Amino acid sequence: MIRQKCEVLSSRSSGIYHTVTLVAPEIAERARPGQFVEIAVPEGRDFLLRRPFSIHEASRRGGWAGTLEIAFYAAGPGTSWLTEVQPHDFLDIIGPLGKPFPYPRNLTNCLLVGGGYGAAPLYFLAKELNARRKRVDMVVGARTQDRVFKPVEAKRLSVSIAITTEDGSLGDRGRVTDVLPGMVSRTNAEVVYACGPNPMLRAVAEYCRDHGVPCQVAVEELMGCGLGVCWTCVVPVVRRDGSGWDNMRTCVDGPVLNGARIWWEKWFRGPTVPTQTPPHGFTLEGVGGETWHEGG
Ligand code: FES
Repeated sequence: MIRQKCEVLSSRSSGIYHTVTLVAPEIAERARPGQFVEIAVPEGRDFLLRRPFSIHEASRRGGWAGTLEIAFYAAGPGTSWLTEVQPHDFLDIIGPLGKPFPYPRNLTNCLLVGGGYGAAPLYFLAKELNARRKRVDMVVGARTQDRVFKPVEAKRLSVSIAITTEDGSLGDRGRVTDVLPGMVSRTNAEVVYACGPNPMLRAVAEYCRDHGVPCQVAVEELMGCGLGVCWTCVVPVVRRDGSGWDNMRTCVDGPVLNGARIWWEKWFRGPTVPTQTPPHGFTLEGVGGETWHEGG
């Protein structure tokens, strides 16, 4: 983990989303798809805590001009200040943080599924998988056309792509999960990666678990410290041998987790879930749990 004052190279809008590119050679050198950075809010704002942003791209260029790109939707004052930064401003960054997506050791056909701007880390992942001679197909979706994240870039990075919008303004009308079964079978997907809203991740992970497809998801949870200290970001995860479950911290044990082992019902409903025993189906050894090796 590195703390750096990083110069802003560019800051631009693309549709309703915003991207900021930073000169961050040391962080970019170590960054892996699925990881995130924490950005300090400039002095004089009402917010004290650093804000987490997933890494959309990292370009490593010999350790002196590496860049990082983050993409986000300015949903409120906690992020909208970042749309105002200008080239040559400096931002205080800590990163790379969290566990990255592991790459499949033997399997080849990878299906990447993304919703909204949450799909941003998948483009970095697609490049790394392509570099490892994996086949990449993609499903990207959103509520409306203007919320589909970089569909042209997704096309460029994948063998085939399915696009969905809930209003039918681009691609198939519906949700990514509507086309998921067809894409899994048409692309002979052996591994699924997913990023996006948590309900979408749950639907993707449960489909994959029920059909025996290994699935890695990058979850979103509120973060306080981002460094494993405050335990605000926990997700219930069933142990590999099914003997129980543990609270895993999204910031250090994730954000990438094995989708088959997340206890989604408990996570979404919190302490109101009556049983403390995970339901049948979670003792699957993580579905393909032996398939992965760490990114990098
Ligand atoms: S955000 Fe503090 S432990 Fe994860």
